[in-house]
Amino acid sequence: LDNGLMKTPPMGWLAWERYRCDIDCDNDPKNCISEVLFRDMADRLYEDGWRELGYVYINIDDCWALKKRDAQGRLQADPKRFPRGIPNLARYVHDRGLKLGIYGDLGTYTCAGYPGTTLDTIEIDAQTFAKWGIDMLKLDGCYSNATDQEQGYPLMSKALNATGRPIGYSCSWPAYQGGLPPKVNYTLLGEICNLWRNYGDIEDSWESILNILDWFTEHQDILQPAAGPGQWNDPDMLVIGDFGLSMEQSRSQMALWAIMAAPLFMSNDLRTLNSGARAILQNKVAIAINQDPLGIQGRRLIKESYGIEVFWRPLSNKASALMFFSRRTDMPYRYKTSLKVLDYTPGSYKVYDVFMEKRISSLKDTTEFVVSINPSGVVMWYVAPAADRPKFRHVNTNHG
Ligand code: DGJ
Repeated sequence: LDNGLMKTPPMGWLAWERYRCDIDCDNDPKNCISEVLFRDMADRLYEDGWRELGYVYINIDDCWALKKRDAQGRLQADPKRFPRGIPNLARYVHDRGLKLGIYGDLGTYTCAGYPGTTLDTIEIDAQTFAKWGIDMLKLDGCYSNATDQEQGYPLMSKALNATGRPIGYSCSWPAYQGGLPPKVNYTLLGEICNLWRNYGDIEDSWESILNILDWFTEHQDILQPAAGPGQWNDPDMLVIGDFGLSMEQSRSQMALWAIMAAPLFMSNDLRTLNSGARAILQNKVAIAINQDPLGIQGRRLIKESYGIEVFWRPLSNKASALMFFSRRTDMPYRYKTSLKVLDYTPGSYKVYDVFMEKRISSLKDTTEFVVSINPSGVVMWYVAPAADRPKFRHVNTNHG
């Protein structure tokens, strides 16, 4: 969507995977969906160095609303859990240089049973969100049919634009239509949405990551060309820092999401995050790969029968990211290859290992090398052409 927003994949924090529809604030006051949770996370994004790295969105998901609209037909936040109201929360977030996202659902109800946005309330809801100072809307698709969605998703795009407030627009539409053509029209999605959920919900497990990865790589010929500045495929949230992933698997999710040019929305507890997870999520080169200004999504180049895969993403300044991934469950696998085998053009390259955080010796395209890839882990490289040595120096002797 050409609204000037999200020229690189959006980054931030999103409540759903970790906090779901916990509305029991009496018994679980720190983790229930309430303004306390979003203020806490805004504090963390602001104070713990996340914002400077690009993690600027703080996004509310389902279960924020009151079960009925107000007398004017407007959505309203549950006053018990958001006593100061959403505009106040938006101000709090903006004061810290962050942006506030909210959640709606195109349909009669949200997936969790809160008021939905039907075709006749699209305009009023867009206006309400803009008036509240919202910066991003995720529009889910429970309780609607294909016809409603075909009308509603473009209509909301228009309605948001008409508010005059820049609001990033995340569409769950394709996820409700199987994610593939001919049902899904990726050209149209790129015109009306900044990002879109293609596939099912992520869970806090390695199995879930693999399931998502398999679907995205299986269909990469369709999905990869759909992405670009202002329009991104969304394989769903980062679950790094939760309970289900090992450190290796956490690095793998970060690397895979960087290669896929995926939105980076963490769904974790930034108040109690361990240092290992923090280091992975704050890895500057991994983030730079994800945020590369060319915005070309990467792809899987090689799938070896024995569980090793190689992914590649072209980056600006003739650089690229290379990622070696192991699905094996035995021991570190020593994978032997060369840049030439991986389709690199003849020349010399300098290589930086993203998670080891160190340069490794330069390589010629023909140089054979071995990378050791841990079970369910990755090795990710940032590869750039070694500076061309000029054949001869041109000396300008004409000083006039
Ligand atoms: C389905 C979406 O895919 C999830 O990300 C989350 O928003 C839930 N609905 C909320 O009910």
